[in-house]
Amino acid sequence: MLNDKVAVIYGAGGAIGGALAHAFAREGARLFVTGRLRAPVEAVANDIVSAGGSAEAAEVDALDEEAVDKHLQFVIDTAGRVDISFNAVGILDTKILGVPLVQLDVEQFSLPITTYATSYFLTARLAARRMVANRSGVIMTITALHSRTGIPLVGGYGPAMAAKEALTRQLSAELAPHGIRVVGLRPQAMPETRTIKEAFEPRAKASGMTWEQWQELLAGRTHARRLMTLTEMANVAVFMASDQASAMTGTTVNMTMGSLDD
Ligand SMILES: NC(=O)c1ccc[n+]([C@@H]2O[C@H](COP(=O)([O-])OP(=O)(O)OC[C@H]3O[C@@H](n4cnc5c(N)ncnc54)[C@H](OP(=O)(O)O)[C@@H]3O)[C@@H](O)[C@H]2O)c1
Repeated sequence: MLNDKVAVIYGAGGAIGGALAHAFAREGARLFVTGRLRAPVEAVANDIVSAGGSAEAAEVDALDEEAVDKHLQFVIDTAGRVDISFNAVGILDTKILGVPLVQLDVEQFSLPITTYATSYFLTARLAARRMVANRSGVIMTITALHSRTGIPLVGGYGPAMAAKEALTRQLSAELAPHGIRVVGLRPQAMPETRTIKEAFEPRAKASGMTWEQWQELLAGRTHARRLMTLTEMANVAVFMASDQASAMTGTTVNMTMGSLDD
């Protein structure tokens, strides 16, 4: 589905970024996987290459404009173009969750908002500048249901996710006339990732729930009465990145399994 597409993933050493990289490579894309630290992205690239795919790792801080720009130029010089830009960056939940809003200090509140929105803006803007020349490309990112519903003790994370979804719409309004689609994914929790356990831990004591009970609680809010897997999320991402999804832009795909109505 992604034969010969050139894809750059930011935060590719993480659970979602890594799963996306493997799925895109399996579908024929040429991957440029990036992260703040080299070792985790190199491991992802090595696995892809061992499986017969194409991947190159690079150390790129997705908040560093110069580093993102330099790397994109390297991608253009090496592969000739960039077709897919996916921002899968995530900051540690332990830094931002667990404190009631009335006690939250301004820095802790602002951290997720500025980090998520700025990183998405930077990577999208710099990719779009290259994509415009080809009148083709897909810019993607990941959010969470906190963008659309009130959840206690998540600090600035909800506003951060809402900002990214608003940015997806705005980018699309300006870029779609140039042939560039902009699409977000809003998955349910995937309990196989470290992120979900970290999000649970600050609440564990207060709620008195075990990890298993918490997963059951989240699962109970879905129509399917279960949580999703990274593979299920990556399969939707492949479709959205492909030309098969040419009608989809300016939107965030609701993958909350019924937890959140459109
Ligand atoms: N996991 C889920 O079930 C789930 C569900 C819905 C939404 N989400 C959201 O999806 C996003 C990613 O989740 P995840 O589970 O994949 O998290 P993760 O495993 O922690 O991955 C996030 C990756 O982003 C990297 N990163 C952080 N800051 C960066 C920067 N400035 N430049 C480049 N890379 C950077 C991290 O690397 P270092 O920090 O080591 O540099 C890490 O490899 C988060 O916003 C999360 O809230 C997750």
